[in-house]
Amino acid sequence: MSQTTRILFVDDEPAYCRIFSKRISADPRFQVETASSGPEALERLQRFPADIVITDLSMPLMDGIELLTEIKSRYPQIFILILTSDDSTAQVVKAMKAGAYDYLLKPFDFEMVERSIATILSHKAAVQAGLCSECLGDKQYCFENLIGQDRKMFEIYEMISQVAQTSATVLITGESGTGKELIASAIHAKSGRKDKPFIQINCAALTEGLISSELFGHEKGAFTGAVARKKGLFEQASGGTLFLDEIGDISPTTQVSLLRVLELGTFQRVGGSETITADVRLICATNRDLATAAREKQFREDLYYRLNVVSLQAPPLRDRKSDIPLLAQHFLERYCAINHKQIQGFTHDAMHLLCSYDWPGNCRELANIIEHAVIFSRSKVLDKDSLPSQIRPVERNASGLTLNLTSSTLADVEEALIRKVLVETNWNLKKAAETLDIARGTLYGKMEKYHLTKPT
Ligand SMILES: Nc1ncnc2c1ncn2[C@@H]1O[C@H](COP(=O)(O)OP(=O)(O)OP(=O)(O)O)[C@@H](O)[C@H]1O
Ligand SMILES: [Mg+2]
Repeated sequence: MSQTTRILFVDDEPAYCRIFSKRISADPRFQVETASSGPEALERLQRFPADIVITDLSMPLMDGIELLTEIKSRYPQIFILILTSDDSTAQVVKAMKAGAYDYLLKPFDFEMVERSIATILSHKAAVQAGLCSECLGDKQYCFENLIGQDRKMFEIYEMISQVAQTSATVLITGESGTGKELIASAIHAKSGRKDKPFIQINCAALTEGLISSELFGHEKGAFTGAVARKKGLFEQASGGTLFLDEIGDISPTTQVSLLRVLELGTFQRVGGSETITADVRLICATNRDLATAAREKQFREDLYYRLNVVSLQAPPLRDRKSDIPLLAQHFLERYCAINHKQIQGFTHDAMHLLCSYDWPGNCRELANIIEHAVIFSRSKVLDKDSLPSQIRPVERNASGLTLNLTSSTLADVEEALIRKVLVETNWNLKKAAETLDIARGTLYGKMEKYHLTKPT
């Protein structure tokens, strides 16, 4: 970030512009410009690359939320503060959801204004300190492989930086596709263990019989097929980090074994008697509500507390919508590189669609949709027609189900509904069939018919 912070102040009342400009420009660290309307602000931004925009909410021509949305889609790196005389209005909530960083009350208290600006600057500095090398330069919104400059992501970056200095066990929770795996690898990369192995295992993918020998290893002859001694992941990850994904799915027996390692710091290979010391940082992740599962005795409570020494909650994408343009551009570059395509960006309508959708499948769903669009697009800019109908505007019908307005046939509606339920159940076919109230066989048939496959 440059030495001087550029601030664009937007208000239709000239007196406010004058007072703000006079007071804030008195500080040499700030360069201030003002605009009296949304369109004027957008024009000004073409030649004045603001770091922060402070805008009034209610203005003629274009209101603050419209301006905010427009700025976010054109200049995702800009931080936006909104001004309002009533902090209880639904408009404030709407603005925060649309990506405003914070709101300020009118008539404004300059100490508050300065505090808000200082918070933004310190967040930017914190993120810059943890920038990955490929993101150096003018991008100030990534941390290791994580992209995002929403306040919720800054909080995650800060927690990662702090927890990385320790060897505490970390539990990462969050919906599917929110970046739990990326958070785990960022903790490892920021820690003193970074030159040692980072080993990950998906607990849901292993049978109960296999998981103990995978984690703890086995001695020769421990069971049929154990033809030689094998080191488990706890040994392989020695000095480094072991990431247990989908921890909520481990069996009660494995829960006991894991609890023992966490309590004693030691374990034995399957069929062995040698006591081995585990020198690993454990990071676990789940998209299940483990606290409730523990309360309802579906997961050992003692283990839950041991795992949950530090907990990190990966925010759903719908709660940090201001990051959508950044992520969309990031995925566009990623898939263009992989597919040897040259697509510069998105049309305004396409970006508007991306920003309006709720993303039940979070970043993974966004990545998949952009990958698909990149593969099939023939133009230099992705337009809204290259985006699938599932992300078009939706309306609620009487039953509360979200249906697609653009769907014109029964088959379209059926496909949209099945897709929605699959995403919401994280492609758990049993749960999806139950929700849809159809037999599992029928669901398989429909998935085949509509070419619905779990994204990899
Ligand atoms: N903040 C982010 N910045 C950039 N890419 C992200 C971010 N969050 C997620 N992704 C991308 O989204 C996809 C899913 O991320 P990841 O596998 O970490 O999610 P997850 O929470 O572990 O999902 P699941 O619960 O299904 O295992 C990956 O392609 C990842 O690169
Ligand atoms: Mg994962």
